[in-house]
Order: sequence, then C-alpha cells, then structure tokens
Amino acid sequence: MAAQINPSILSADFSRLAEEARAVEGADWLHVDVMDNHFVPNLTLGVPVVEALSRATDIPLDCHLMIEDADRWAPQYVEAGAGSVTFHAEAAAAPVRTAREIRAKGARASMALKPATPIEPYEDLLPELDMLLIMTVEPGFGGQAFLDIMLPKIRRTRELISKHGLEMWLQVDGGVSASTIERCAEAGADVFVAGSAVYGTDDPAAAVRMLRSQATE
Ligand code: DX5
Ligand code: ZN
Repeated sequence: MAAQINPSILSADFSRLAEEARAVEGADWLHVDVMDNHFVPNLTLGVPVVEALSRATDIPLDCHLMIEDADRWAPQYVEAGAGSVTFHAEAAAAPVRTAREIRAKGARASMALKPATPIEPYEDLLPELDMLLIMTVEPGFGGQAFLDIMLPKIRRTRELISKHGLEMWLQVDGGVSASTIERCAEAGADVFVAGSAVYGTDDPAAAVRMLRSQATE
C-alpha cells in the first residue's frame, strides 16, 4: 500500500473548517481529533461538528477519540459520518466489543496507544482491528516534538502484524513532519497524521504531496 497522509484539522482554522478541508484536496483521510478535557487536558469538538464536516467534504473522516468512556461514544462517531474511528486502549473497558460495533456499523475500527502503553498485551486483539495508532507525542496538543523513543514500538508492532499475516494499517500521530516521516516509514508505519506540518504551511495540499513522496521513497 502507498503511504497515506491524513492532515489533522487540529492545526486548521476552526472558524473555517469546510474551507480548510478543501485546502487539503488529495489527502487520503481527514484526521479529526476529538478531546473531552478528561482523557487529555484539552477540549475540541464532538458529534455535531463531525456530522457537519462529513457533509462539507468528500474526504473520508478519520476520527481520533481522545475521550473517556470510549465504548459508549465510538459507535456514535460512525453514525456521525466517520469512515474510521480510533478509540484509545486506555479509555476502552471492552475494546473487542467496541471494535466489533464500529465494524458492524460500517466503519474501520482502530485502537490507539499512548506513548507509555505497550503493544504486547494487545497482540491477540489485532485481528479485531483495521488499524493501530501509535502516538508519537503525549496526546492533547498539536505542534509537539516527535518522540524518537517510539520508533522501536512501531517496529515491534509492524513485526506482530506481519507475524499474524494481517492487512491492518499502522498509523503514527504526533510530530510527523518532513524531518521525521522517513524514520516512521522505515520503522513500518504506513498511515501518517500531520497537523502543523500541513496546516502550518502556505500550501497545505503541496505539503501533503511532499510528505507522501517522502514516506513512499
Ligand atoms: C495530538 C493529536 C494530533 C495532532 C498532531 O494529540 O492527536 O493528531 O493534531 O499534530 P502535529 O502533527 O502538529 O504534531
Ligand atoms: Zn490525532
């Protein structure tokens, strides 16, 4: 699979979300960071904004839920129009049931791991997921520095995916930029979230193309 680039609207202008979605035409997915001020110390948006965004763009929505009570909320984001829903392992009491509900409602099911959460306890759950997200910053804010110490976890996760012969995608999120994306790709990631590295430039669509070509090399 060619590298996929998912611009994060956390770094976009929230007063012009529909326009900001159009500014990244050609992106594979639009990454939507949902934060509840409990799971992370920041508050962003919820179901009504996701519904509005899904009407405003043809780019499929990749919803990253940084919220507590993920089991209860995740299916509602599929109903709101998300094509992929990522819940955090640390916030899900019943990750298998939640992943099955997401799939049953017709979206891709994905689970995220904070930097201090190891992949190994979740090895047996991988077949239930369409994607695994490895956070390369502590979740909560855009514009943080990439954590190099996560590269071994990306590599180990890629090995587990291969060992089980799975088709699932491996996403990285946090500090992904022109200077870090190649290391992530080399470690085995194939889906790249980029906020400031896309929306912090004058030409977000060109930034997406540039990142994709760097990750594909
Ligand atoms: C952080 C969010 C990220 C954020 C990434 O908690 O999950 O998606 O938008 O922003 P950058 O790419 O600027 O690190
Ligand atoms: Zn995110």
